[in-house]
Amino acid sequence: MSTVLITGTNRGIGLGLAKAYAQQSNNTVILGLRNVDSMPDIDVGQGVKLVKVKIDSGDIESAKKAMEELKSQGISKIDLVIANAAIGDCFGALKEVDLGSFEEHWRINVLAPLALYQACVPLMPEGSKFVWMSSGASIIDRVPDKLDAGYGITKSSMNYLGRYAHFEEPSIISFSLSPGWVQTDMGDRGARWSGMEKAPITVDESVAGIVKVIGEATKDNYSGLHMRYNGTQSKW
Ligand SMILES: NC(=O)c1ccc[n+]([C@@H]2O[C@H](COP(=O)([O-])OP(=O)(O)OC[C@H]3O[C@@H](n4cnc5c(N)ncnc54)[C@H](OP(=O)(O)O)[C@@H]3O)[C@@H](O)[C@H]2O)c1
Repeated sequence: MSTVLITGTNRGIGLGLAKAYAQQSNNTVILGLRNVDSMPDIDVGQGVKLVKVKIDSGDIESAKKAMEELKSQGISKIDLVIANAAIGDCFGALKEVDLGSFEEHWRINVLAPLALYQACVPLMPEGSKFVWMSSGASIIDRVPDKLDAGYGITKSSMNYLGRYAHFEEPSIISFSLSPGWVQTDMGDRGARWSGMEKAPITVDESVAGIVKVIGEATKDNYSGLHMRYNGTQSKW
C-alpha cells in the first residue's frame, strides 16, 4: 500500500502512469493537475483511492498549497513522487531560441519540479522515491547532433536536481528518468519536427518500463543516476 503523486496525469505518459499505479491494490494515487476537470476517468484496482489536486507548474506556490490541501484530507505521507508535467516546444538553434519561450520552459520544467520537491520532502518517509522526468534531449554528449537547446537545457537541469537531491537527502531515493521517445502530444510533435510520422514507442511500453525501474530502485543502484525506462543507465 503506497501513496503515489504524479504530476500531469490528464494525458500522455502521466496518464499512463496514473493508470498503472491505480491498478496496484490499495494504493492512494494523487493526480496532480493544473485543471482538475481535465482528468479522464480511469479504472482502479481493489482498495485504490484516487485524489485529484491542483498543481499548476506556472504558479510557484502551487505545490505548497497542494500539500496543505492533501494534509487537510488526512494524507500525511507520500512514498513516491513523479515530477512528470512539462512542456517541450522550445526547439531551434541556440542563436535563434525565443527567450520568452525559454523562460517559460525554465519555469515549468525546472522551477516547478524544484518547488514540488521542496513541498513534498517533509511528507516523504525514509526509503521513499522522487523521480525527475528527464529526456534524451538532456544529454550533453549529444549536443552537436541536436537542435532542441531550449528544452534540452531544462532537462539537463532535471538530471542535476535528481543527483543533487540524492546526496543531499540520504533517506530519499532520487534519480532522473528518461521515458524513451513516446507517442504522446509532445513526443509525436518532436517526431514530426524530425520528419517522422510518430514517435517510436507507445505509452504502454514506456510506462511498463518506468514502473519496473521505479519499483527496483534503491539507494544503492539507481539513486543519483540518470536512468532510462528500459533499466539502463543514461549518459549525462
Ligand atoms: N513523449 C516523449 O517522447 C518524451 C521524451 C522525453 C521526455 N519526456 C518527458 O516526459 C514527461 C511527460 O511528457 P508527455 O510526452 O506525456 O507530454 P504531454 O503529452 O505533452 O503531456 C504533458 C503533461 O504536462 C502537463 N503540463 C504542462 N504544462 C503544465 C503546467 N503549467 N502545469 C501543470 N501541468 C502542466 C500537461 O497538462 P495540460 O494538459 O493541462 O497541459 C500534461 O498533463 C515530460 O516531463 C516530458 O518532458 C517525454
